[in-house]
Amino acid sequence: AERPYIVGNWKMNGTRSMLSEARAIDRASQRLMKVEVALAPPFTLLHAVHKEVQQIGVGAQDCHPGEDGAFTGDVSASMVLDAGAKFVILGHSERRQAHGEDDALVKAKATAALNAGLRIILCCGESEEIRDAGEAEQFVIDQLKASMPKISGNVGEVLTVAYEPIWAIGTGRTPTADDIGSMHRAIRALLVELYGEETSAAVRILYGGSVNPGNATELLGADEVGGALVGGASLTAESFLGIVLAA
Ligand code: 13P
Repeated sequence: AERPYIVGNWKMNGTRSMLSEARAIDRASQRLMKVEVALAPPFTLLHAVHKEVQQIGVGAQDCHPGEDGAFTGDVSASMVLDAGAKFVILGHSERRQAHGEDDALVKAKATAALNAGLRIILCCGESEEIRDAGEAEQFVIDQLKASMPKISGNVGEVLTVAYEPIWAIGTGRTPTADDIGSMHRAIRALLVELYGEETSAAVRILYGGSVNPGNATELLGADEVGGALVGGASLTAESFLGIVLAA
């Protein structure tokens, strides 16, 4: 369907010395037009990466639900847009866990991001306990229903969903391609229910969790996988481009 979308989430990594990696990723991506490539550096590098690249998309890893005001340490959607971001990652499990973000807050942030003109990558995913209990699909669908903002118009242009099982993040463990496929089919069915068959078809569903150049072909080949959200392996151009090449 759509072009595969490979997004690097640098998390709390990167100083200006890493701009050369962003530049190398951008240069190579100019020759790989069949793949859409993007990076989400920390806030401190957002503008510098934006200035450094021509081809790839640049996004933030979070934003505040408000427009402006007395929120020490927070950054609004319009501020990240102003810094050069075109999208924002929201609902990542690391923010849900370490910052107590619940579905309602994720939804409020997503609404603010869309209002500011940003695209969003909405993350979802179950814990190992929930997976072991056989409740992963129900949990993920409920989580998405509760954190999905109201979207009118061309949903494919503004929304990407990322399925990231918590137990697969940074662990080297991944679900089987079959398990990813069945989760992604369930997410696809929800998108059809919410937005209709035609408009939701353009929404890509990314897989995230221990994606590396060695497993990318298999994971990206799973049913309904429209790309990858990559953490650790996005920190060097060499490994990240290995994944882009597999897409
Ligand atoms: P890893 O690729 O390091 O497992 O991280 C995945 C992730 O959380 C991307 O958002």
